[in-house]
Amino acid sequence: MNTEQEIVTRSPEETHRVAEDLLKTLKPGAVLALHGDLGAGKTCFVQGLARAMGVRRAVGSPTFTLINEHGGDGMRLYHVDLYRIRDSHEALGLGLDDCIHGDGITAIEWAERVADLLPKTTIHIRMSPGRLPEERHIVIQRGGDS
Ligand SMILES: Nc1ncnc2c1ncn2[C@@H]1O[C@H](COP(=O)(O)OP(=O)(O)OP(=O)(O)O)[C@@H](O)[C@H]1O
Ligand SMILES: [Mg+2]
Repeated sequence: MNTEQEIVTRSPEETHRVAEDLLKTLKPGAVLALHGDLGAGKTCFVQGLARAMGVRRAVGSPTFTLINEHGGDGMRLYHVDLYRIRDSHEALGLGLDDCIHGDGITAIEWAERVADLLPKTTIHIRMSPGRLPEERHIVIQRGGDS
């Protein structure tokens, strides 16, 4: 069974809380594909995950490292930003495959660039602006066994 959940947030803090709620439902090894234009709030979402996982190091937008690994209280968090890569071949060279098939949580910004590498259980999170400056629409799509 596939489920789709639609949420509107009205501040970065609300987006953090959506991430925190989603985290409670994730199994080790979960892969999250974050979609949305520049400034949609993908990194903000990952920051919410990180906070909920007890990551103390700041989670930003990686400039040169495209994969950042964070140790939390339990599971590890892999934050991947593929804005600067062209295709999945390049991503494999960065070690993306190891993250995806590991038992941490992998959150991938601009995941559509590696669509062919994503497991079937990938949870897709689509973010888009709302009518107000701090409003964001978030659609969370997951397969039955994700
Ligand atoms: N409701 C909201 N949810 C998330 N971010 C919001 C919200 N309202 C305002 N913002 C602001 O929007 C910006 C989102 O930036 P963020 O870096 O998360 O975007 P991004 O999707 O990761 O962009 P990029 O593709 O450049 O990495 C932040 O400055 C954040 O404070
Ligand atoms: Mg970002």
